[in-house]
Amino acid sequence: MTKRDILAGMDIGTSNIRVIVGEIASDGSLNIIGVGTSPSEGIKKGVIIDLEQTVESIIRATAEAERMVGAKIDLANVGIVGTHVGLFTSRGVVAVAREDKEITEQDVERVLQAARVIALPQDREIIDVIPREFIIDDYDGIRDPVGMLGVRLEVEAMVITGSMTSLRNLLRCVNMAGYEVNNLVLNALANGEICLTRDEKEFGVFLLDLGGGTTEIALFKDGTLQDLSVLPVGGDHITNDLAVGLRTTFQLAEKLKLERGIARPEMASPENDIEIEGISGKEKRMISSVDLYNYIEPRVQEIMNLCKQEMGRMGYNDMPPGGVVLTGGVSLMKGIAELAGDTFGCPVRIAQPSYLGVKSPIYSTAVGLIHYVYHNQGLRRSGKRQERRPGGPLSSLWRRFKNFIAEIWE
Ligand SMILES: Nc1ncnc2c1ncn2[C@@H]1O[C@H](COP(=O)(O)OP(=O)(O)OP(=O)(O)O)[C@@H](O)[C@H]1O
Ligand SMILES: [Mg+2]
Repeated sequence: MTKRDILAGMDIGTSNIRVIVGEIASDGSLNIIGVGTSPSEGIKKGVIIDLEQTVESIIRATAEAERMVGAKIDLANVGIVGTHVGLFTSRGVVAVAREDKEITEQDVERVLQAARVIALPQDREIIDVIPREFIIDDYDGIRDPVGMLGVRLEVEAMVITGSMTSLRNLLRCVNMAGYEVNNLVLNALANGEICLTRDEKEFGVFLLDLGGGTTEIALFKDGTLQDLSVLPVGGDHITNDLAVGLRTTFQLAEKLKLERGIARPEMASPENDIEIEGISGKEKRMISSVDLYNYIEPRVQEIMNLCKQEMGRMGYNDMPPGGVVLTGGVSLMKGIAELAGDTFGCPVRIAQPSYLGVKSPIYSTAVGLIHYVYHNQGLRRSGKRQERRPGGPLSSLWRRFKNFIAEIWE
């Protein structure tokens, strides 16, 4: 198997590290051939706090995926949590180079390069530049200018920046685990690939990634990511509340949450049919699912309220036409879509990858990473033209990423 044929996605989350390996079939379709999961140690609220523990967790997850695939993975496409990420709009403009004024991919590369020329604080680095629209002479709203004619090519782009320290630590962990980073991709962009339809992205939708230590709110509109916010609260806080409330261990509270957790009162029963032990392992007691609900619901509601606040800050007190889509582990909580629907006053659905073996919202980010890298090259265009691009479908994204890596190690 050549390196080109397989792509690995690495989601280094607060609760779990998930590695997904995808194979690109000869007809261009993607098949998932390897899955590896390891509890994540060394990460808090999306931030690496212990290098060695993180490296070990990465090795465990990757080894599991490699065993399934029967081959060693060398290159990893790694997700970046939005905690230290900044988004802002930048413009670039260039003169079209060719004499016959046909716009080429090189012009597009140059104009995106021009959009990168911005003053940045020393501790920040540009991760990516995503075109929102191109403007050729005075015609705006163009998604893909290659092949069109014009004199002046302008781009309005979203510049994604990250904290240099966080990015370096992330790269270092992956390298220390024995892997080279092929691409760094924002988790929100990866999730968007898997969880949202083209129409949702076009007309406007909020995608909430409900993770263990973080809750990420991503706004998509006009086909691309428009805004992003990360709350340092997630499923681990629900477990914590439950452990404190029931005076039991975190492990038992987590188990109860996964097996019996509910976020709606009509799903609860007053029957005392759940046995719990105290912290010392003694003092067994019986509780009901109403008790569980009473500890779980306030935190879930709080997370949703905080999300609503962020949405308001992004300019949406009323929800966009695409409504709200949930993914991430906490979206598996029974009744959460109904609770979210009531909070946001719009339809809410839960999204997950549709591939066999990874049909769960816990895999959205890792599978999305592969999708994103496979489907999005420099211009993020779809379809036939990709085949014409010299150097293979990933070359442009790859080239830009290599420049980025070189810059941050300088
Ligand atoms: N069936 C379930 N019911 C309720 N919560 C669940 C369920 N399954 C998983 N979770 C919770 O989801 C969280 C983990 O989700 P996920 O794997 O998406 O997080 P992560 O990506 O590791 O973290 P983060 O995105 O915050 O860095 C944990 O808090 C876990 O308890
Ligand atoms: Mg996550």
